[in-house]
Amino acid sequence: MTQTILLGARLPGAPHRIIEDRYRILLPDGDIMPQDELDEHLQEADAVVALLSQKVGAAQFERAPNLKVVSNYAVGYDNIDVDEATRRGIVVTNTPDVLTETTADLAWSLMMAAARRIVESDRFVREKRFTGWQPSLMLGLDLFGKTLGIVGFGRIGRAMARRAAGFDMTVLYAARSSAHDDAAADGEPRLVANRDPRLVSLDSLLRESDFVSLHCPLTPATRHLIGAEQLRLMKDSAVLVNTARGPVIDETALIDALENHAIAAAGLDVYEQEPLVPDRLLALDNVVFAPHIGSASHDTRRAMARMAVDAAEQVLSGRTPDHPVNPSALKK
Ligand code: GLV
Ligand code: GLV
Repeated sequence: MTQTILLGARLPGAPHRIIEDRYRILLPDGDIMPQDELDEHLQEADAVVALLSQKVGAAQFERAPNLKVVSNYAVGYDNIDVDEATRRGIVVTNTPDVLTETTADLAWSLMMAAARRIVESDRFVREKRFTGWQPSLMLGLDLFGKTLGIVGFGRIGRAMARRAAGFDMTVLYAARSSAHDDAAADGEPRLVANRDPRLVSLDSLLRESDFVSLHCPLTPATRHLIGAEQLRLMKDSAVLVNTARGPVIDETALIDALENHAIAAAGLDVYEQEPLVPDRLLALDNVVFAPHIGSASHDTRRAMARMAVDAAEQVLSGRTPDHPVNPSALKK
């Protein structure tokens, strides 16, 4: 019997075309399948390719008697109840590696834009307020030679450290103790820097860094990892960048800190209640916003699409997927 692959969205490059002669493909009418339709179609699905904005938990598994694999079109998978999937022998996969450099580029862009007030400057010029060179116009912060604190030292965090080397920055990182060993095991080339990244406690990192960039996954342990208490530790000249997941920061505490100039600026790609961005946050000039576009380059989104569809196909054809999140489900 032909197996059914449910796609939660139309993906760049339409990689499902490669396998549509062998599988039944269910696509949304528009670009993205609304959650209620996804839930309904799960009944017929042997595989689902899900977006990070689509929830796949116990309620969804209940409706999906044939489901064998949830392939997430993202590296983060906090939208999926992985423990529940594992209990049911359903494989979960994600799209690491292909988006690492692209996401680090975006984090770096936000950091520079916030430091050098690029968005404010753009607005200033568009509003025809540029009347000539001025000694004190749009003064910002230097990056080169400063200290970058990286929270979460996985692939993307390490890609940030490589960029920092080019700016002669000192790099501090805070991570689960195993992250450093992971880096060594991956055979990461040593950084071409004056100094190697130094593992410190989160508190020390926050106290000592001029720029703090978040690169940890969202888990119960990292929800509100950065709250009022942590923001108080940061320098009043510091810039906070979040391209990870919104709830890693207590957004209300961040707004307070930015309003009170307890920190200098922020660059945000993700929000606590996406896609909602609070008006109080939008009102701040010292924040640069992006609409969750960390991995959004043409090449990377196509590579992710290919990887996500391949993963579904690999599991349905009895092969081991390249990037299982819960390898123990493969043995069931
Ligand atoms: C994007 O946020 C991702 O997790 O891939
Ligand atoms: C995941 O968070 C990664 O850094 O690849």
